[in-house]
Amino acid sequence: MQVDEVLEKVLSKIRPSDEERTFVEELMKELRTVAEERIEELGLDVRLYFVGSLAKDTYLAGDHDVDLFLAFPLGTPLEELREKGLELGKVIAEKLDSYEIAYAEHPYVRARYRGVSVDLVPCYDVRNWRDVRTAVDRSILHTRWVNENLNGRNDEVRLLKRFLKGINAYGSEIYVRGFSGYLAEILVIKYGSFLDVVGKADFILRQKIIDPADWLRKEPETALKTVKRETEEDRPLIVIDPVDPRRNVSANLSWEKYGRFYFKAMEFLENPSVNFFFPPEKPKGNYLDELRKRGTALVTLLIDVPDMVDDILLPQLERSARGFEKALEREGFRVLGWNVGRKGKAFIMLELDRDWREKVKIKPGPEFFTERGRNFYRKNEKVWVIGKRLYSEKAVRESAVDVIIELLEKNQVSLGKGIRDAVREADVLLNYVPKELEREAYLFLSREKWNL
Ligand code: CTP
Ligand code: MN
Repeated sequence: MQVDEVLEKVLSKIRPSDEERTFVEELMKELRTVAEERIEELGLDVRLYFVGSLAKDTYLAGDHDVDLFLAFPLGTPLEELREKGLELGKVIAEKLDSYEIAYAEHPYVRARYRGVSVDLVPCYDVRNWRDVRTAVDRSILHTRWVNENLNGRNDEVRLLKRFLKGINAYGSEIYVRGFSGYLAEILVIKYGSFLDVVGKADFILRQKIIDPADWLRKEPETALKTVKRETEEDRPLIVIDPVDPRRNVSANLSWEKYGRFYFKAMEFLENPSVNFFFPPEKPKGNYLDELRKRGTALVTLLIDVPDMVDDILLPQLERSARGFEKALEREGFRVLGWNVGRKGKAFIMLELDRDWREKVKIKPGPEFFTERGRNFYRKNEKVWVIGKRLYSEKAVRESAVDVIIELLEKNQVSLGKGIRDAVREADVLLNYVPKELEREAYLFLSREKWNL
């Protein structure tokens, strides 16, 4: 298929219909009215901002969650903003269908209304980056900047977002470490179109520093500090936030996800297909078959972690997995790969070259000139005398699980700090995982999880 045809076909699936647009606009209008009434009632000085892809008209069809920001005056003390912001969120949400309290840097209300998820997020009414006090404040500025600069290229953003989703590189959350929606918007604004961005996958990486608002000229000291810090962190890209020279928009983008984008972009241009945007489902396989085929062993630690958000947990699990890799290699195992995550319990999976190792054990025997000594001599293959006593050695098979347990007991694995105790108490499973991890184990062992 020609590339234009492919893009048209994809667009027909991801461009919201007039019907959806009308629904979304109505929804926003209603929400604004409800919120304004509550603000009035409570006598608050709060302004309302819709942010996120809905407010920027860069949402994908069918994916229209609402972000409504409740902006308090800059003079409001942080404590008061948290308290009154949550309170206001609740009274607004009480007029909607249902709600729960969600937690980020600050608690906020996540409501549902007419089948749509509505986040009611307290923030400061910032005018520019110097006013920014909480992590969410910038969103108001982002929305404004994108709306001022996108110039009708909204569908190009949609294509890029859908492409990134298709290749599993969309989302800046810790368990993805991919491209955020805002980053996709910036790339389209900077390079022109979806095709321009994918055509420049190599160029962009070499360019490394993207500075759409020219901060390096306008605010050199601050912007250079950002560049220096992010260079030391070895990020694939440094995109100086057009609304805040202190921030790298792509700070959460990993080399792995850029690598995916790099090869998929290349492949797409050589051979355009809708499959990049809507990939066929990954093969379903059995992890035990995979293990047999590979002739390797799978050790899984199931960890009961204390209450912990993913942003803290995942890096700790990764650190611990690397700790196991090192320790096991020292003990004579080859570690072919590891995989971590949380599905109910947290887990660390390690693929080893085998599930046992041979270890020589010295066996001290009795004095040689006794009945027991003569028996010892007859029974053992390698026997020698040191002083009056007999000695022998034998090779014993040790299971990888025993080695791991011993390493943990002796404190010889470097573990993530916050989960150290929990890992020591982990269940260690060999060549077996509970039902809910079977697919995960298969995707890991077959490397389908990372396969480009
Ligand atoms: N945001 C950000 N950096 C991130 C994640 C989010 O700056 N790593 C801010 C942006 O201002 C963004 C807003 O939070 O516009 C909403 O984030 P999100 O819902 O993740 O992105 P959207 O642009 O709404 O895209 P999507 O269509 O995926 O919801
Ligand atoms: Mn969103």
